[in-house]
Amino acid sequence: MKFLSLTTFITAALSGISGAEAYWKGFNVGANNPDGSCKTQADWQTVFNTLKGLPGYFTSVRLYASSDCNTLEYAVPAALATGIQILVGVWTEDDTHFNNEKQALLTAIQQHGSDWIIAVSVGSEDLYRGDTSPAKLASQINDVRGMIRSVGANQEVGHVDTWTAWVNSTNNAVITASDFVGMDGYPYFQGAAIQDGANVFWQSVQATRDAVNSVKPGTWVWITETGWPVSGANDGSGVPSVSNAQAYWTNVACAAFEQAHTFWYAYQDYTASPSFGVVDANRNPIYNLAC
Ligand SMILES: *[C@@H]1O[C@H](CO)[C@@H](O)[C@H](O)[C@H]1NC(C)=O
Repeated sequence: MKFLSLTTFITAALSGISGAEAYWKGFNVGANNPDGSCKTQADWQTVFNTLKGLPGYFTSVRLYASSDCNTLEYAVPAALATGIQILVGVWTEDDTHFNNEKQALLTAIQQHGSDWIIAVSVGSEDLYRGDTSPAKLASQINDVRGMIRSVGANQEVGHVDTWTAWVNSTNNAVITASDFVGMDGYPYFQGAAIQDGANVFWQSVQATRDAVNSVKPGTWVWITETGWPVSGANDGSGVPSVSNAQAYWTNVACAAFEQAHTFWYAYQDYTASPSFGVVDANRNPIYNLAC
């Protein structure tokens, strides 16, 4: 518990979870169905019920955007109906899109309150892509925090990016602006062999924690994306397979759920290559998700 920020601790305590269970564990879920169509409210409800039915009873999700596919308009009522909580995503590019994203989040809070919100990530891997400046992103984070505070929401507001972006001191202004830091790390994309996967991953987590704590001590690092593909091309020594994805889940997911807020990549991904999804087209687990 010693690494938990006070806010996180209080939030966890108010949610009725404590001790070793004081972490959110969930999945990244896209707003599009595998066929490309936008998820309806019924589709979101199906996702949420599927997650609750998996071993581990998952009740948290990370979404990437607020207005795209009317994500919050359809996902929030489904979340309220099923008892799911959401790490909200607000897309930052371009300015028109950012304003639409802010408006969708504001509307959702005005209609449904904010109890369904875990936290808000302003942007996703923008620094990794080199799409923005740290100063602009920092100002957008502060902008969204001010907006949600104005309608009574007190959740943390931060940003999600690759661990390589967080350890790059050029981006320190984003750490300063963030209440929490979400790190994405994929040993597979680093060309690691599966037997090195856990070591490579935890080194990336520690490097992020060290960098973040040197800028803003006490800021909590969340694991917002990691996973191992079940199929697709090799990346260096990284080999996709069901058995490797199973090993990575058992070694990394089960440990991560015990020590950090963790959002696995991904819920369903069977039309992609490499493919990271843990459930297939029929929403059955592709490998054993028991910890
Ligand atoms: C650090 O980030 C800056 C700005 O995005 C970029 O130009 C630079 O190449 C990065 N450094 C490393 C080592 O990746």
